[in-house]
Amino acid sequence: MLDKKKSDCQKLNIKAKYRELISEQDLKRRIKELGEEISRDYESKCPILIGVLNGAFIFMADLIRELTIDCEVDFVKISSYGNKKVSSGNIKLIKDFDCDVDGRHVLVVEDIADSGRSIRFLEEMFSESKPKSLKFVSLLLKEGGAVVDFELDYVGFRIENEFVIGYGLDYAQKLRNLSSIQVLD
Ligand code: IMP
Ligand code: MG
Repeated sequence: MLDKKKSDCQKLNIKAKYRELISEQDLKRRIKELGEEISRDYESKCPILIGVLNGAFIFMADLIRELTIDCEVDFVKISSYGNKKVSSGNIKLIKDFDCDVDGRHVLVVEDIADSGRSIRFLEEMFSESKPKSLKFVSLLLKEGGAVVDFELDYVGFRIENEFVIGYGLDYAQKLRNLSSIQVLD
């Protein structure tokens, strides 16, 4: 599978070297646990899960299928990285959410938190719309990357400060289609 995707990347002219950090099985196991925990915490609350595009689309799709409660979904799109491995720090809202979050339980679904700027940006943005509760789940948290104060309510995996790709996460918009999380060297 990986070999096939590596050759796809060669076709795309990406000369990337990467090594597996979190396997497909470990992702599946941990996301099931997160789904169970979130289902317990939100019992009878019908939360709106808001996925942060593009990176969170695969995590979001897998996470909601592990929920045993009613939920709704929506998406926002923000951008900060451009085609670089380091965040520009300048976050832009590219697609706003469509749902009415006033009085609702909102759970924002992120792929990875690094500097924390995106989480802070989203927290300020959603708070203005007066949700009944506002929580954040991130599949990954980069240890030691924080440059602003931020809090996550659920974290899949804590990882070292390395650039990761796959399972929705990109480098210059590519490599999102790898099935596991890989470190880009
Ligand atoms: P932050 O605002 O610095 O916390 O960065 C958060 C966003 O940057 C994430 O939602 C990702 O889209 C992107 N990002 C951060 N680290 C990585 C990485 O290692 N690989 C791919 N994207 C990343
Ligand atoms: Mg993201």
